[in-house]
Amino acid sequence: MEQEKAKKAAAEAAAKLIEPNTVVGLGTGSTAVYFIEALARRVETEGFAIKAAVASSRRSAEQAHQLGLPVKDLGDVFQVDLTVDGADEIDPQKRMIKGRGGAHVREKILASSSGEMVVIADETKLVERLGVGVLPVEIVGYGAPSTRVKVENLGYRSSWRQSPDGSLFLTDNGNLLLDLSFEEPLSHPEEVHEELIHIPGVVDTGFFFQIAGRILIGRPNGTVEIR
Ligand code: A5P
Repeated sequence: MEQEKAKKAAAEAAAKLIEPNTVVGLGTGSTAVYFIEALARRVETEGFAIKAAVASSRRSAEQAHQLGLPVKDLGDVFQVDLTVDGADEIDPQKRMIKGRGGAHVREKILASSSGEMVVIADETKLVERLGVGVLPVEIVGYGAPSTRVKVENLGYRSSWRQSPDGSLFLTDNGNLLLDLSFEEPLSHPEEVHEELIHIPGVVDTGFFFQIAGRILIGRPNGTVEIR
C-alpha cells in the first residue's frame, strides 16, 4: 500500500508537468496506470486539452481510450512532446532496466521519439548497480531456442517469460521475452547490452541508456523528489 501511494505521488506530479495542446507519450505498467488516470482527470476537470496521447502498449492505449484521451498511433504523429513511463531499476547515472511489464521495445521507440522521457517511480526502483533483478530481452519466435542458447553461451542464465495461465508470454509485437539473471549486479551494463544486441533474433534488451530526462521519485507521504 505504501508503495502504491508513492507511485501515485510520482504519477500525479508528472501529470502536472503536461502542457496544454501537446502530444503525450504513455508508458506501461502499474505506475503508468496512475499517470494515465491523473492525466485524464486533469483533462476532465481543468478544461485542459492535449493534442494526442500515444501509448507504448495495447493495455495503455485501451485505458487511455476508455478514459476519453485522444489516442493516436506514433506513426500518425511522429514526434511526441513528453513521455511519462515507469522503470524497474534506476541507477545513479539514470541508466535503467525496463520491460518487466513486457513492453520495453515499444517504450524505447516511444521514448526515443519524445522531446523528453520523464520517469516515474517509487524508491524501491533505485539501485546502486543495474541487474539486481532480471533483464528482459525481446526475442523473435523463429529459432527462439537457438537464440536462447547463444545468449546462455555468453554466461547468462535465462527463462522464458510466462503468462499467468502458464503459456508463453507474447509481447504486443508477437515476440517472446527471455528474462536474464545475473550472478551479481553489473559493473558495465553497456557491455552486456552490446553483446546481446548483436545476436540475430534479439530485438532489444530492456536497458535504457541516456534516454531518461527528469526522474520523479514518489514517497509514501506524498512528496516527490525530482532528479
Ligand atoms: C513495462 O514493460 C515496464 O518497462 C514498466 O515500465 C516497468 O516494468 C515499471 O512497471 P511498474 O510501474 O509496474 O513497476
